[in-house]
Amino acid sequence: MRSAVYPGSFDPITLGHVDVLRRAAGVFDRVVVAVLVNPRKAPAGEVDGRVAAIREAVAEALPDATGQVEVRVFDGLTVEACRTVGARHIVRGLRAVSDFEAELQMAHMNRRLAPEIDTVFFMTALEYGYLSSSLVKEIARFGGDVSAMVPAGVAARLGAPGAEGPRV
Ligand code: PNS
Repeated sequence: MRSAVYPGSFDPITLGHVDVLRRAAGVFDRVVVAVLVNPRKAPAGEVDGRVAAIREAVAEALPDATGQVEVRVFDGLTVEACRTVGARHIVRGLRAVSDFEAELQMAHMNRRLAPEIDTVFFMTALEYGYLSSSLVKEIARFGGDVSAMVPAGVAARLGAPGAEGPRV
């Protein structure tokens, strides 16, 4: 079985992340979405919300892949998360050339730490190339409409106009 880890903060998951996850599920038998957190910084309830949002998004947007996708929380190195779940690949999305430098550095560093693990990149679909979790949060904070940028459950949690909610 070919397993991959898709690591990230997912704070919150966006439609860009969902797109990368869909494509990864088309290539790997099993994709573990690894929500990487620093337990000293992220309150447990908030992390639970991120995990719930990812699970909801998978059920809603990728119903055929629910058996392939797991969502788990890790605090520590991504390569250790890979070793824990038995994955030999790390999945990351590239939105634009501006992502490349940081991603290249991480991929090389991870390979240095764990030569048996390779990073594979999916180019995020063009329509989501401008999305980022931090921008989504900022827009929502000021009352902007993020309902076309995030899964419906996240939009509701963020209190997007037109979405059901806010839930929190
Ligand atoms: O969603 P993000 O914030 O772009 O994800 C970054 C993330 C979580 C993948 C990266 O910070 C990470 O791998 N953190 C875990 C700690 C680690 O392994 N650091 C070394 C990376 S070379």
